[in-house]
Amino acid sequence: MPFRQSTIAAMIVAATAATAVAQDDVIEQRQQLMKDNGQAMRVLVPMARGQAEYDAEAALAAFVSIRDSALVFGDLFPEGSETGGDTRAKPEIWSDREGFDAAVAAFIDDTEAAVAAAPADLDAFRPVFGAMAQNCGDCHEVYQVPED
Ligand code: HEC
Repeated sequence: MPFRQSTIAAMIVAATAATAVAQDDVIEQRQQLMKDNGQAMRVLVPMARGQAEYDAEAALAAFVSIRDSALVFGDLFPEGSETGGDTRAKPEIWSDREGFDAAVAAFIDDTEAAVAAAPADLDAFRPVFGAMAQNCGDCHEVYQVPED
């Protein structure tokens, strides 16, 4: 029955297109979370450097934002999202999934610790901030393609 077959073929084409869109979405979502992390760092770094007055409320809000992104970030690397969009995710995320999961878990731990500490002053802030921020570079070094 040619009609039926072409209907099935059309459905397959539609399903494939939907998958491609979904992968682009997931890439965009994980990049957006990371952009938000960059934004939060623009609040935290000047305080850590003493270039902005320490603001405990702003620091905690930034820590909460980064913690919330850490909690979902690891789920945004499904099979099939290795390429596409303008992803800078390295293939190691998929070939060394355990290593990547461990990096995400450490990131979650340190962001949870920063939120729990809710540092009241700069002296309390600096060490928790330092431990949290270490994760950014450590993970990027192994799992993110550097910018050219
Ligand atoms: C567990 C690993 C990991 C940690 C921890 C991590 N990142 Fe990322 N980051 C990535 C990966 C992977 C990408 C590339 C994502 C892509 O392009 O698909 C990325 C991309 C980015 C980008 C570029 C986003 C864009 O597309 O414009 C920024 C900015 C960024 N990260 C900031 C941060 C900051 C700030 C921290 C720490 C607070 C952090 N990251 C912690 C893995 C990590």
